[in-house]
Amino acid sequence: MLNETIDWGNLGFAYQKTDKRFVANFKNGAWEEGYLTEDNTVTLHESAGVFQYAQTCFEGLKAYRTADNRIVCFRPDLNAQRMADSCRRLRMPVFPEDKFIEAVKAVVKANADWVPPYGSGASLYIRPYMMGTDAVIGVKPATEYQFRMFVTPVGPYFKGGVKPLTLRISDYDRAAPNGTGHIKAGLNYAMSLFAIVDAHEQGFDENVYLDSGSRTYIEETGGANILFVTKDNKILTPKSGTILPSITRRSLMQVAADYLGLEAEERPIRLDEIDQFAECGLCGTAAVISPVGKIVDHGREICFPSGMTDMGKTTKKLYDTLRGIQMGTIEAPEGWICEIEA
Ligand code: PLP
Ligand code: COI
Repeated sequence: MLNETIDWGNLGFAYQKTDKRFVANFKNGAWEEGYLTEDNTVTLHESAGVFQYAQTCFEGLKAYRTADNRIVCFRPDLNAQRMADSCRRLRMPVFPEDKFIEAVKAVVKANADWVPPYGSGASLYIRPYMMGTDAVIGVKPATEYQFRMFVTPVGPYFKGGVKPLTLRISDYDRAAPNGTGHIKAGLNYAMSLFAIVDAHEQGFDENVYLDSGSRTYIEETGGANILFVTKDNKILTPKSGTILPSITRRSLMQVAADYLGLEAEERPIRLDEIDQFAECGLCGTAAVISPVGKIVDHGREICFPSGMTDMGKTTKKLYDTLRGIQMGTIEAPEGWICEIEA
């Protein structure tokens, strides 16, 4: 029975307690069998690694209700792989990738009433995360960990839905060369909080970060990768070792080439060339594809010809095709859709 207390069409991107979440503990060098619980609180040692040295990473993916009322999620194997990469970089034990997918299925199934109805524009956001739980005081990795996964129904990440965003070029950096920009470490987000509050106070929706080594190239925003459409209708996205390898972006590049017959290229993109492009968008699990109307670089306004009222034409095609694949109205490439038995 679909939860009847929720106004599905008007959800924002906020936490809401759902019925069950998954928990598994790592102790004595091994993962214990996980379990589902109703308890949405965590009690930890005062000196837990997560508190002292931010030893934590996370993932984000979504479950959808399809036109024919099945529940599916999108490429969870890639989230499992990326979380394994994050764990290795932070010296945390990898939660086995097959167990990760089983946990996604179990937690979504246990909260099936919270998967928004088809056509509502909302989806069920799934948040896997892991943290160091035992006491550390010298700088070293914890020896005990907890892996958790909760779900919460969400609407659009950016207020205003599909209204084009205004971004600014940030003076703050997000990631250092050879740092942790390519993994989903909580610390990458902690250090972006000052910049995002400041951006909002100045009237911007998000920050565009440049490569911190040379401050010449476009990297990404605080919570999404960026893509551009050139005037001759080619899709471009930054190539960099210090941005998060977005699953949405990787999927869209394939959708552009295989479904829309567009050329799609990943290459370094200079800040001083973006005024040549026709459209811009942010892409990610939370952002889906959010159109960008304007990027402000210290007072210089770069206004994309797609304007400030609608999504650009090509961005819209990418959006519609990806949404169709996720919602089951367009046939998906092999292995992209993971069916959940509800
Ligand atoms: N970049 C950052 C910094 C993010 O936080 C996210 C969100 O996960 C993305 C990009 C988009 O990645 P994905 O498409 O895998 O959700
Ligand atoms: C996601 O898209 O899943 C993210 O983790 C981004 C976050 C800023 C909400």
